[in-house]
Amino acid sequence: MPNSLQEVVQEVLRRVKPSLEEEERVSRILSKTVSTLREEFNRLEPEAEVLVEGSMAKGTWLSGETDADIFVRFPVKWKKSEMGETLIESVKRIFGPEKCRLRFAEHPYVKVTVDNINVDVVPCYKVEKGFYKSATDRTVFHTEFVKERLSLELRDEARLLKRFFKGIGVYGAEIKTRGFSGFLVELLVYSFGGFVKTLEALRDFQPPLILDPGGLYKDREEELARRARGSLLCVIDPVDELRNVAAAVSGESLSIAQYAAHMMLEKPSIEFFYPVYRASKEELKETVRSRGLNIVSITIPAWTNIPDILWGQAYRLLSRLSGFLEENDFGVLMERAWSDEEKNIVLLFILEEVEKRAAILHMGPPYFSSNVPRFVETYLSSERMLIHPFPRNGRWWTVLKPKVRDVREAISKFMSSSESLKGFSEKILESLSRSTICVGDSVVDAVENPEYTSFLERCINPFPWLSK
Ligand SMILES: Nc1ncnc2c1ncn2[C@@H]1O[C@H](COP(=O)(O)OP(=O)(O)OP(=O)(O)O)[C@@H](O)[C@H]1O
Ligand SMILES: [Mg+2]
Repeated sequence: MPNSLQEVVQEVLRRVKPSLEEEERVSRILSKTVSTLREEFNRLEPEAEVLVEGSMAKGTWLSGETDADIFVRFPVKWKKSEMGETLIESVKRIFGPEKCRLRFAEHPYVKVTVDNINVDVVPCYKVEKGFYKSATDRTVFHTEFVKERLSLELRDEARLLKRFFKGIGVYGAEIKTRGFSGFLVELLVYSFGGFVKTLEALRDFQPPLILDPGGLYKDREEELARRARGSLLCVIDPVDELRNVAAAVSGESLSIAQYAAHMMLEKPSIEFFYPVYRASKEELKETVRSRGLNIVSITIPAWTNIPDILWGQAYRLLSRLSGFLEENDFGVLMERAWSDEEKNIVLLFILEEVEKRAAILHMGPPYFSSNVPRFVETYLSSERMLIHPFPRNGRWWTVLKPKVRDVREAISKFMSSSESLKGFSEKILESLSRSTICVGDSVVDAVENPEYTSFLERCINPFPWLSK
């Protein structure tokens, strides 16, 4: 087992750096795909440009990875919607609709599988640097920056940091993760001069951490500080001085990154990069039982196939329900969401308790307070009153029925309250009406999917490297 920092880094590098054969295979498939697309698009729009983009163009992809990005640049005269539709129709025609899946970011794009590689074909505008019309227009300039400024060694260091962030669960800028994007990883490694140096910087920084890798704010430090105000991490996009590449990074992700960097430098291990979650369903059930965890899951059929929308709404639902449980006197210890982004969403809660006592002692005002008559009056007429208000040890009290008996009742109440569900679409409400609730160790069986099982393990034990 490698255990010095140097040895661990070497071992991970060996795993993440694609071999020459792998590089050649991927680039053969991509060139073929690009030529096919070029032929088609040149017929439709002679000015269109088809380019390999993303980590496969930058040389920062991880061995074994099967995702690639191809961008089609349209002249600006195209309407956004027409550009998207044309692209989707063409890709479907060329590769067959069964190999294509429609996805959405700022505009629609297509995922097509060619020889086991999943290629995102993304439309964007062919604009000059700095004159962006849509969110994906900066990408070609990002690629250019990385290719110009990062040496081959630094690109390998970016692979290490990417793998590290994936391992600790903070890789990806999507709403699901709110972590570090591929481009941000490249900029960090470039700014600090390597993987280990980035870890040291992450370990040692106090927010805000402000970086300007393109040197766009040279001699304008005050303006830069103003621009970064309010962010924990601000990394100025070298191709757009108004944009913070780290805007999507949540405090939670950044704090995990800092602590993991601290631990990795103190006790280097492969486990940061490749954490192992291998508890069986039986073992998980046993953990839930033996620790007496009050765990509850709600499985809801997915209501959209657009991941960012699904996750955004799922998190909103999660926090709304969490607040509702708190209002109904359930202490929420942990709340999490999981989804396969296709069939199901699971909202998961760990609570202080799942059943309420039969009666609750409810405190009123002290003796001789002017509020005593009102307190007595209020609770005498309350539906929840079990024992009339009475004085004892310096105060007035009453004994009430709990607001709800158990968590199932609370969730049903939530689902049938239009007040609680205000703002959620009909589609979501319809899905909610088909949801199922599990309490206790049966949450393990809520969804049949190994990724769900490992999600549950991560809820209870998020950082396997902690216990080493
Ligand atoms: N939501 C988005 N909005 C705008 N541009 C995006 C968005 N997502 C991705 N991009 C652009 O598309 C490119 C490819 O994105 P992707 O997430 O695949 O990153 P990557 O650098 O290829 O890393 P990875 O190795 O994880 O694929 C990025 O370089 C980025 O500039
Ligand atoms: Mg990519």
